[in-house]
Amino acid sequence: MRGERKVLSSKDLLGIKELSREEITLVLDTAAGFKDILGRDIKKVPTLRGKTTVNLFFEPSTRTRTSFELAAKRLSTDVINFSVPTSSVVKGESLVDTALTVQALGADFIVIRHASSGVPHLLARHLHASVINAGDGTNEHPTQALLDAFTIREKKGRIAGLTVAIVGDIMHSRVAKSNIYCLKTLGADVRLIGPPTLIPRNLRETGVAIFHNMEDGLKGADVLIMLRIQMERQGKGFFPSTEEYAKNWGLTPERLSRAKEDVIVMHPGPMNRGIEIVSEIADGPKSVILEQVTNGIAVRMSVMYLLSGVKR
Ligand code: CP
Repeated sequence: MRGERKVLSSKDLLGIKELSREEITLVLDTAAGFKDILGRDIKKVPTLRGKTTVNLFFEPSTRTRTSFELAAKRLSTDVINFSVPTSSVVKGESLVDTALTVQALGADFIVIRHASSGVPHLLARHLHASVINAGDGTNEHPTQALLDAFTIREKKGRIAGLTVAIVGDIMHSRVAKSNIYCLKTLGADVRLIGPPTLIPRNLRETGVAIFHNMEDGLKGADVLIMLRIQMERQGKGFFPSTEEYAKNWGLTPERLSRAKEDVIVMHPGPMNRGIEIVSEIADGPKSVILEQVTNGIAVRMSVMYLLSGVKR
């Protein structure tokens, strides 16, 4: 007899903050099944045939948008990549009206990336379609954290008890926020490393340890997550110059030697080579950066599948 189908508790994926440990584990376990399917000659399954996915990206993206498109296609949904510059958004149509229009055209999943924190939450209140947050301002990027957790678990066999160091511009990073919530919920020891100007002190309330010295923070780490230095914020006083940042916070082979011998190095991308990470490490044997990208498809298939079963 087949067991009851497990689903997430909400129709939307807005952030990791809203997920329980059981729900995160369900996403990762389900993704492992989809990863097996992606290793076959025929990678497509009919699971969500007849459904429609709309990618609504108001900010640039390479990995997330392409990966959601592939995930949706592998599950046999129809996919529309909404083009913001050629849409009626430029004529002044509101975000909610745009989303309602897309829903009226038949969207079952709306994948949204927006520069303003909270936009996915706003849309979720107005729509019966599933809203998936693909990155909102400096708030959260939940599917990035889920694919990071999937990659760590695949490489290390567990997450609980590992020491994970997140390095760089924590303040502006939605990836960092989602990773903190996800990894803490799964039982990892999380360290934040960076200059005081880029680490909000209130994050201590999440149970993380904060280091303002690279060498100390990297000591004994099992996993390093390097963050993109946000060039668009350069010159706003958070650090003196990119050269200065690279000197103090860039990952070099000497610094990496402070971590455990079997440390893995991660980066959500896009990378600034030579600033937060040198190419020798990004392309080296400890790097799992491209595996993170590959795992993003299975994890996003898992999320869409688990949301599709939620009663509404
Ligand atoms: N990691 C990530 O969000 O990359 P993109 O901006 O290319 O989607």
